[in-house]
Amino acid sequence: MLTASALTKSFGGFEALSGCSLEIARHSITGIIGPNGAGKTTLFNVLGGLLAPESGDVVFEDRSVLGLRVDERARIGLVRTFQISRELGELTVMENMLLAGPHQSGESAWRCFVQPGRVRAEERAAIARASGLLEQVGLGGHANEPAKNLSGGQKKLLEISRALMLEPKIILLDEPTAGVSPAMTEALGQTILGLRNQGLTFAIIEHDMDVIARLCAPIYVLAQGRNLTHGSFREITGNAEVLSAYLGKAA
Ligand SMILES: Nc1ncnc2c1ncn2[C@@H]1O[C@H](COP(=O)(O)OP(=O)(O)O)[C@@H](O)[C@H]1O
Ligand SMILES: [Mg+2]
Repeated sequence: MLTASALTKSFGGFEALSGCSLEIARHSITGIIGPNGAGKTTLFNVLGGLLAPESGDVVFEDRSVLGLRVDERARIGLVRTFQISRELGELTVMENMLLAGPHQSGESAWRCFVQPGRVRAEERAAIARASGLLEQVGLGGHANEPAKNLSGGQKKLLEISRALMLEPKIILLDEPTAGVSPAMTEALGQTILGLRNQGLTFAIIEHDMDVIARLCAPIYVLAQGRNLTHGSFREITGNAEVLSAYLGKAA
C-alpha cells in the first residue's frame, strides 16, 4: 500500500534519515521501533508530507506522493495524526472533530456548529459523522467538554478520531501510548485493532514493547536513520543487532 525507498533527510549537516526504506501492507498494523534519535518521527514527517526528503521516494497506492502537500495526501487517504495542541485544547471535543474535516469542509461545519441557525445539511452530516466516531471510541459523553479536560489516553483517542474524520485508508501514529495509563493503553489497543478489522491500515511508532508485541506485524527496527532489520516480534527480539542498538555494545 505504502512504500518508502532510500529516504535521506538532513538537518544542517546531520543525516536524520540515511537511506531508510519501509513497506506497509494493506490491513497491517506495521510497527516502527528504534532508539531515541533513530529518525522515526522524521520518517513519519516525510511520509505525511511535513518534510521533503533530499532523495528517495514515497509511493502510496502505486503513485509517488512526494509532490503532494499534507492536505493533498490526506485527501487520498494518507493521514498522520497530530497532538491536541494548547490552542485545540481550548476548543470542545466536537469542535476539534469538525475542524478536522472531512476534506477541509470542517471549518464551515464548525462555524455553523457555533451558529446553529445556519446549519445546512452538509454540516449536519459532519456533526452526525463526528458524533458517531466519538461514540465508537468511547468519547461520546465528552463531546461538549474542552479537549484540554481529557486524560492523556482520551486525547490520543481524540487524535485518532480527528484522523478518522478525513476518511483515511492509512493512519500514521507516533507513540500513541506515550503518557497513557495502562487501562487506557488497553482501550487504545482495542480501538486500533477494531479499526484495522474494519479495513484500515496503521503504521505505529511505539516504545511500549507489550503494545508492539500485541498489535504489530511486521516490525521495522531503525537505528541512526537506517533500517536495522524487520520481521515478526519473535524475529526482531531474537536479533543480537537489535539488542545492541538499544543497549550498547555490551549487550
Ligand atoms: N527539525 C529538526 N532540526 C534539527 N534536527 C532535527 C530536527 N528533527 C529531528 N532532528 C534530529 O534528527 C534525529 C532524529 O530525530 P527523530 O526523527 O525525532 O528521532 P526519533 O523519533 O526516532 O526519536 C535526532 O538526532 C534529532 O535531534
Ligand atoms: Mg520521535
